[in-house]
Amino acid sequence: MSRPEPPLALLAELTHRCPLRCPYCSNPVELERASGELATGDWRRVFDSAADLGVLQVHFSGGEPTARRDLVDLVAHAAGLGLYGNLITSAVTLDGALVAALAEAGLEHVQISFQDSRSAGADRVAGFAGAFEKKRAAARRVRAAGLALTVNAVMARHNLDRVQEIIDLALDLDAARLEVACVQFYGWGFLNRAALQPTRDQVRQAGATVAAARERLAGTLAIDFVVPDYYARRPKACMGGWGRRFLNVTPGGRVLPCHAAEIIPGLEFDNVRDKDLAEIWRHGSAFERFRGTAWMPAPCRACERRDIDWGGCRCQAFLLTGEAANTDPACDLSPYHDALAGLATAESAAPAPPFVYRQMGRPAELRGN
Ligand code: SF4
Ligand code: FES
Repeated sequence: MSRPEPPLALLAELTHRCPLRCPYCSNPVELERASGELATGDWRRVFDSAADLGVLQVHFSGGEPTARRDLVDLVAHAAGLGLYGNLITSAVTLDGALVAALAEAGLEHVQISFQDSRSAGADRVAGFAGAFEKKRAAARRVRAAGLALTVNAVMARHNLDRVQEIIDLALDLDAARLEVACVQFYGWGFLNRAALQPTRDQVRQAGATVAAARERLAGTLAIDFVVPDYYARRPKACMGGWGRRFLNVTPGGRVLPCHAAEIIPGLEFDNVRDKDLAEIWRHGSAFERFRGTAWMPAPCRACERRDIDWGGCRCQAFLLTGEAANTDPACDLSPYHDALAGLATAESAAPAPPFVYRQMGRPAELRGN
């Protein structure tokens, strides 16, 4: 196989610790404890290797990255290497002193998640009383410090009818960009799928609201709409193609082609404690497994879109068909596609079950499984 292009971005999952308990979280159900996290020096080396490799952006993520006491130090180190720094945060711990220190350290951009446009609904999903007001205050501090802001609004059946309110919220917070992101079902989100699944009508209506707002707000607010895969006709090019654009380092140092890859049986993930990031990117067996198109079975193998969407999402193919090399069922050429749409329709029509909130350790609902 020829040498791969350098990755564009590194998702640095600094920690799985988080004060929020969102049931849609894409982190693995088995969360990494603080004792297993990489040390400051390990992360510095990761950023050194990433810069050498040609990475342009680092997303400081988690869990909640501000739970790391060395966050400012790590941001400064990455900025010193010329890496564009984006903080992906729940923002409930983002006080004025921390925003100022991060701006001073060279952070360029902050992405804040919002669970709803209204405090009661948002706090219920976050499992954290007062989260919504804290987020709004933090977003204002981010803008006052001159940092670019993206509002990441996580949408599901309980809030998808309030897209217009979410757009108004993003405008009020002076965000440059809004992601209206329908939940994708991985990790805790997969566990809570029935509780989160929107109806097809909700998705259609939300899409129309976004389209009208995009036209009205061109030049003021950029709006992305992440359509739920289960109602799609064609899959997303997940991660821009496996091992093509992104790499993900877990809190414990494992290097993954995407945040969910550890669910796929048979893949072996190298660790930055043992091997250099560049070596892992170029030759790691997990990266090579689904890179390019040679691994594809039918119908992807002969499809004209095979190097546009790269067969969709490997993790979703595994979760829904039991085989990661299958065509993503979000594609209507997959033999599983109709069953998937039927499942989404049935789940969204049934009463929503209670949430299983994210937590360290196996939740009571799953014990014995
Ligand atoms: Fe994409 Fe495969 Fe579907 Fe073609 S068959 S559109 S390559 S997922
Ligand atoms: Fe793993 Fe899509 S989330 S390939």
